[in-house]
Amino acid sequence: MAVQNRTLLPSQWMETHRGVWRINAGEEQAFTPLGFLGIPPKTDAIAGMDEAAFPFAERSPVLDRAGASGTVIRFPLERDERVYGFGLHFRRLNHRNQVMQLQVDHYGGRDDGRTHASFPFYVTSRGYGVLLNTAKVVTVDVGTSVRRDDPKPPPVRDRNMDRAWDSQPPANSIEFNVPASGVEVIVFGGNQPLDAVRRYNLYCGGGFLPPRWGLGFWHRVPTLYSDEQVEAEVNEFRERGFPLDVVGLEPGWHSKSYPCTFEWDEGRFPNPSAFVKRMDELGVRVNLWENPYVSPESGLYETMEPLSGSHTVWGGLVPDFTMPEAREALSDHRRQEHVVIGVSGYKLDEVDGYDKWLWPHHATFPSGRSGEEMRQTYGIQLQKLTSDLYRTVNRRTYGLVRGSYIGASSLPYALYSDAYDHKTFITALCNCGFSGLLWSPEVRSGADADDWMRRMQTVCFSPMAMLNAWASKTKPWDFPHIADAVRDAMLLRMRFLPYLYSAFARYREDGTPPFRAMPLEGVEGESVADGTLDDTANPYASRAVIERADQYLMGDSVLVAPLFRGETTREVAFPDGAWFDFYTGKHVSHGGVQQVSAPLERIPLFVRDGGIIPLMPEMEHIPKADRNVPLEVRAYGTKDGVFRLYDDDGETFDFERGDCSWTTLRTVGGNGEIEAADRYWFYDPSRFEWKRMTDDA
Ligand code: GAL
Repeated sequence: MAVQNRTLLPSQWMETHRGVWRINAGEEQAFTPLGFLGIPPKTDAIAGMDEAAFPFAERSPVLDRAGASGTVIRFPLERDERVYGFGLHFRRLNHRNQVMQLQVDHYGGRDDGRTHASFPFYVTSRGYGVLLNTAKVVTVDVGTSVRRDDPKPPPVRDRNMDRAWDSQPPANSIEFNVPASGVEVIVFGGNQPLDAVRRYNLYCGGGFLPPRWGLGFWHRVPTLYSDEQVEAEVNEFRERGFPLDVVGLEPGWHSKSYPCTFEWDEGRFPNPSAFVKRMDELGVRVNLWENPYVSPESGLYETMEPLSGSHTVWGGLVPDFTMPEAREALSDHRRQEHVVIGVSGYKLDEVDGYDKWLWPHHATFPSGRSGEEMRQTYGIQLQKLTSDLYRTVNRRTYGLVRGSYIGASSLPYALYSDAYDHKTFITALCNCGFSGLLWSPEVRSGADADDWMRRMQTVCFSPMAMLNAWASKTKPWDFPHIADAVRDAMLLRMRFLPYLYSAFARYREDGTPPFRAMPLEGVEGESVADGTLDDTANPYASRAVIERADQYLMGDSVLVAPLFRGETTREVAFPDGAWFDFYTGKHVSHGGVQQVSAPLERIPLFVRDGGIIPLMPEMEHIPKADRNVPLEVRAYGTKDGVFRLYDDDGETFDFERGDCSWTTLRTVGGNGEIEAADRYWFYDPSRFEWKRMTDDA
């Protein structure tokens, strides 16, 4: 039955977990992203979080309409409330004053909501989050639409005479339009935005823990490379002393691609098993590029035919992976052809597609799912398939995916894009942290040595440090006079492994994203300049917003402030408290905005007062579990601090049964103390050495 104007009173929401409330607004939907994924929430971890009040106690959300013509639901916003999230976006953090169509699509450079991972989940500066668990393309008006029945509408002003006239009068609510007869809504409470993000991640099963090698350096070789060419390239990394943990094969390992056969090309890879083994002996894992469209020449074609949609992509079948039979067919094939011979994971390409080369919304699929639902969720369908597959052999995987959606927090993938822009790649990295996603600002090539160096530095301080040379054929050492500095940046990434791996373990344990945008650290960093009227550039005298979208936190203590081509200085907005230069230990800031500088060879990195950074020695790849790795434990500033160092076998899921350990590294009155764990796989605690990083260091 159609619903009109129903207030969703606090008493009508069900508290499913501590600080998490849900309601079905309108009719319950048969297919939802979270229902499809079926990943249980981390109930204990949510129960361990601070209490949070229902955020809409004073002004309730309203279900304006639910029925055959769709569902319109609105949530209150305070005047100064900032709104973050909605998945992956490239141009801004606060989406207030935006209208977006949240559609999974290749990013086309427009800030309109269509990106590789776009979905109705937001968190606000007031500390709570809201999720619409739907696979439909939702339109959202983020504080832009004013209703006639609004009890407190913005004042009507006269543009002729009133200088305070605003082209965008602040609206009191955020409105969603969902093309379905109802939607499940989940609200995540919190006292600050990070609480809501953590609750969302825990509700989606917690963050994922990559295998330890996944945090080393990745290199994707050019298309059509043969096994010998790959091996020669890997050897060159070793000879030149450039770290390398994963080599990625791009199109060319399949006998046919676009659409794909999923079968090795016998000419280029005559003996895949021996090839993967040789790579393993060099300490290098193999990752396979793939798109999911099945070539008529693939052995899988016949099986997939009845399990695929009405349309083709590049003449290949589009399997319906919401169906267990389709998942099993691809999983079995991958298990036999790839996983058992040691392939470490996949790059799941083209699951977003450019709109024009995927299937239309009216396409049909054998499960009954609509073309639209399939478009939105194809990325998580494939992530789930591969992640479940690796689980069956008790090996962790880490890979890349070009499309993602609601509920991806615990899926072991980083997003990437063809849109190759250094600055917006950093904003993308920042935005992902609001929505349970991770981003790789991959490097492909550089306009010059300066650009190359700066991009390399950024990627070395990201969730996945990767050079994607599929088309450019670039090698890290291609700009000879800065090759040593590039190698140093890559080796510094390796040194950070203990710190990063522990940050990921925390992501899994308590949902804290390992990479965080500044608003999650209390820096809203936004000032609004006066809008100056200009007949072409600014005809409505819109006001400009300054955000801190080009800097971020890595783990709890390191502030990363990348520099860009041609720059050696920049502004940095520091969270409150004292901050120190990572390299020298010199005091840099007491919080607030400050100019910093760094030579070309260095990316500006700052450490919080009391920050403890465990660094391992420089290594060319992550050794297997039986090494006794020493650590240099750096303590910054004057405040006492604590760091929890995580360890496990680095490869399997045994940690889920308790096969893991946490070591407490702490400073007390300036002295370092170690509370050793019972068991180690990677480290040797008798070889942990403290280093004080102070002004006189
Ligand atoms: C693109 C992808 C690139 C590369 C290329 C190979 O779709 O974004 O990273 O894999 O395909 O054809």
